[in-house]
Amino acid sequence: MKIAVIPGDGIGPDIVKQAYKVLDRVSEAFNMKFEYQEVDMGGAAIDKYGVPLPDETLDICRKIDAVLLGAVGGEKWDNLPGHLRPEAGLLAIRKGLGVFANLRPAILFPQLKSASTLKEEVLGDGLNIMVVRELTGGIYFGSRGRKDLSYGQEAWDTESYTTHEVERVARVAFEIARKRDKRLVSIDKANVLESSRLWREVVCKVAEEYPDVELSHMYVDNAAMQLVRNPRQFDVIVTTNMFGDILSDEASMLTGSLGMLPSASLGQGKIGLYEPIHGSAPDLAGQDKANPIATILSTAMMLRYSFDREDAAAAVEEAVSRVLDQGFRTQDIMQPGMTLIGTEEMGDRIAAEIK
Ligand code: IPM
Ligand code: MG
Repeated sequence: MKIAVIPGDGIGPDIVKQAYKVLDRVSEAFNMKFEYQEVDMGGAAIDKYGVPLPDETLDICRKIDAVLLGAVGGEKWDNLPGHLRPEAGLLAIRKGLGVFANLRPAILFPQLKSASTLKEEVLGDGLNIMVVRELTGGIYFGSRGRKDLSYGQEAWDTESYTTHEVERVARVAFEIARKRDKRLVSIDKANVLESSRLWREVVCKVAEEYPDVELSHMYVDNAAMQLVRNPRQFDVIVTTNMFGDILSDEASMLTGSLGMLPSASLGQGKIGLYEPIHGSAPDLAGQDKANPIATILSTAMMLRYSFDREDAAAAVEEAVSRVLDQGFRTQDIMQPGMTLIGTEEMGDRIAAEIK
């Protein structure tokens, strides 16, 4: 199984190193063979080649089974023009690989209940929300520009969706809902935006193919509020690129830390892009402080979705859970009475627990 690895910037290399430990251990325990090829993207690629996504990187990723990505971005590149920023590389690789459905599971490990910012009674016996974020359309990719006015300037970005783009991501969400609690909430801003009205119409149409799934709709402002008021009402969420970006950060905090949430980006083919939902946290880079769990859980998603190995995926998730049970915590999820450990030790301990 061939995996392209993009360590990226900031804490990217620190956390990806832990993912390697986990995959090496999986390879022993489950008799799987992984071949890694490291490629550059983001700030690292800008420094070497002057562009955030070199053609060679995309070519290699396209020919491979799965791509594992740490994180990209950092202050150093913040003042470059938009199309040359590290983030532009991330958007280009998502688009280039055609991975239009971004799965962001927000699962609260019971051991981390008290690390959540929500009261225990709101969290009840746990939280398990799957956010399906549209990833290759909408305002992230719409036409944008800037022009001079007689006084100051004007700048614009465009939110636009086609029937086809909504249909295919809606279908992914319905399929996932079908395998879970069969409840899907589509989130839009149909009271204001025309693109959202189309979104809602198309989702309703796709729903006809899934009579067993209960579909409801929510405006994004209300959804943001409902997520903190009563997050347990959600099973699967499907939403646009930008709303999904915002709501998945919010959902992650319910689970204790941004450092806990993995993601899988899938398209029509078998290729998948796997990355933690958090950023590159340059202030923590190289200090053995970052939480590698989101990246490690992303490798579990890779085993599940790209390699069809539910057994290995579950083993990684159980290993994470066991290490949390044993009271080990990185600083972002540290609680009184627990044992504070660094990135490396967290990686070692999780790998060692894979059985
Ligand atoms: C994410 C990130 C990216 C996004 C940034 C880094 C471009 O916030 O994956 O959620 O907005 O998609
Ligand atoms: Mg984001």
